[in-house]
Amino acid sequence: SRPAVLVARAVFPEVLERLSTYFDVEANPDDTPWSREELLARLAGKSGLFATGSVQVDAALLDACPQLRVVANMAVGYNNLDIAAFNVRGVLATNTPDVLTETTADFGFGLMLAAARRMSESERFLRAGQWKRWRYDTLTGSDVHGATLGILGMGRIGQAIARRGALGFGMKVIYHNRSRLPAEQEAPIGARWVDKATLLSEADHLVLVLPYSPESHHAIGAAELAAMKPTATLTNVARGGIVDDRALIEALRERRIAAAALDVFEGEPAFDPGFLDLPNVVLTPHIASATVATRRAMADLAADNLIAALTGGTPPTPVNPQVLAPR
Ligand code: GLV
Ligand code: GLV
Repeated sequence: SRPAVLVARAVFPEVLERLSTYFDVEANPDDTPWSREELLARLAGKSGLFATGSVQVDAALLDACPQLRVVANMAVGYNNLDIAAFNVRGVLATNTPDVLTETTADFGFGLMLAAARRMSESERFLRAGQWKRWRYDTLTGSDVHGATLGILGMGRIGQAIARRGALGFGMKVIYHNRSRLPAEQEAPIGARWVDKATLLSEADHLVLVLPYSPESHHAIGAAELAAMKPTATLTNVARGGIVDDRALIEALRERRIAAAALDVFEGEPAFDPGFLDLPNVVLTPHIASATVATRRAMADLAADNLIAALTGGTPPTPVNPQVLAPR
């Protein structure tokens, strides 16, 4: 009989149709929020789960669903999946890298521009009828062209943002990452590896693009914010929890940094209401990969992974390929 799969969240109908040619699909077309108990009940007897970053899969869930062989995450990040628990149980996890890199970099760079040039604040000013006459210092921000771009987390998306800065805006690029890029990848964008302290003190515009893990929890907190230039901006298109949001609110309120732009928050979709009182922060609801084409490419890639994993093929983008080896 055909494998059964659960699609936990609403997704493109075309993708559901494609999955239905291989599997008995239980879907959630109305995007009903399921409790953990409902998710567990629906996963009974399913070999595959099509998930998103909002679906938590931990050891207890895997133990309750011993027939589950693969979780295809429609996201590049996979901090919602306990990969160590997957490894111990031989369950495959897959993600959607590469297809969202340029789209996410576009948005991250745009957020950085918006923070530096006070774009959201300017629109609120206009909409509030405050635009009465020209003034030399109205809504003056800081330049992006020619400034120093600091990147924390130089993966694919970090490199794509660095390219935009170096090649499009003449920015000087410094970065901090566990591993240095090979020289041939640094050279075309003139990127220089620096230690974290140097990154914080030299960046005019700091962009966070590192994966969330216990090690990156509050990688930017009060001490790091204090080490930044008072004129600097901070942009987060990575994950909530990498920034200590309370500390950031304090720093923005006291103008210890100039501005921030955030697409992700601790505890999202909830977020600290303190952000709403601040003029110098741009706030967006975790949409950096949200173009029609890219969301479709992410869904297609997640489906490719699910189909390959359950039909004897080679999943294109496994997170833990080592669990495939013993098969
Ligand atoms: C979005 O945050 C993703 O990880 O794809
Ligand atoms: C993260 O893995 C990225 O693509 O930058």
